[in-house]
Amino acid sequence: MLTVIGYPNYWLAKVIASKLKAIEIDVYDKVFPDGELYVRLANPERVALNKVVIVSTFYPEQEKRILKTMLLIDAAKNNNPSKLIALIPYLAYSRQDKVFLPGEPVSACLIMKLLKNAGVDVLLTVDVHSSRVLECFNGLSVNVMISDLLVKHALRYLNNPVVIAPDKGALERASLPAKTHGLDYDYLEKHRDRVTGEVSYSPREINVRGRDIIIVDDIISTGGTIAESSRMLLKKGANRVIVAASHGLLVGEAIKKLESAGVLKVILADTLGLRHEHKLIEYVDITDKLIEELNKVIA
Ligand code: R5P
Repeated sequence: MLTVIGYPNYWLAKVIASKLKAIEIDVYDKVFPDGELYVRLANPERVALNKVVIVSTFYPEQEKRILKTMLLIDAAKNNNPSKLIALIPYLAYSRQDKVFLPGEPVSACLIMKLLKNAGVDVLLTVDVHSSRVLECFNGLSVNVMISDLLVKHALRYLNNPVVIAPDKGALERASLPAKTHGLDYDYLEKHRDRVTGEVSYSPREINVRGRDIIIVDDIISTGGTIAESSRMLLKKGANRVIVAASHGLLVGEAIKKLESAGVLKVILADTLGLRHEHKLIEYVDITDKLIEELNKVIA
């Protein structure tokens, strides 16, 4: 038997439960007068000796979602599931995956340890910033790569594009879909000021004149990375630029920034607890891919 427990009102939990033909347990949640969070499983007896999938995502309101997810994991664990799987498409804090400046924590690693210690047996996530983060989970984890699906969608609009990673670390994110779809790929040399967060690019020999471009990234937050790279590629003579990203946080003026940097479309996966409505944005459904990966770990 399979039981699904969703983060309160997270649409993905219902979809997963229905596609897996599982029982979804209702969650009662409230906030105490002093601001502390409370959750209660409506039917805890449906957890015992069952495989349980907790479906959550860590954006928006990262801290609240992280803590409430931990409470759900603990509530489930207290009722003796035979296996506890956490499906968390977006892992917040994953970018702080090392000590960049002395005195910093490794936040990404801490989140992994919290999930493991709370009782998660298997962790499934989508395109985590760097797979090295998952080593801190110290258990079975699956990083579902979806850039091939995003690039496939972008190909509706472009002619034989070059797939570009906005920095060397993201090269695999570009090379995988490029190889799948028989496209050229390359990367840019990005620098980020660790204090101001500002992004700049070093010159690098890259032939994009007259070519359409798909920039592939994991996260669009302020839009600075994509806006800078799009501007640079268009200046080098690129024809059209489309962006494909797994997690579109798009904070503040991000969309305006992308629009004014000449980005034609923003192709996103639906990995967050919110959706942005804008003429530039198109979402790609990745639920079948998640089901495929879930089925493997459930078996
Ligand atoms: C950084 O290395 C990530 O892969 C993204 O490129 C970055 O988080 C994007 O942030 P922003 O949109 O604020 O430039």
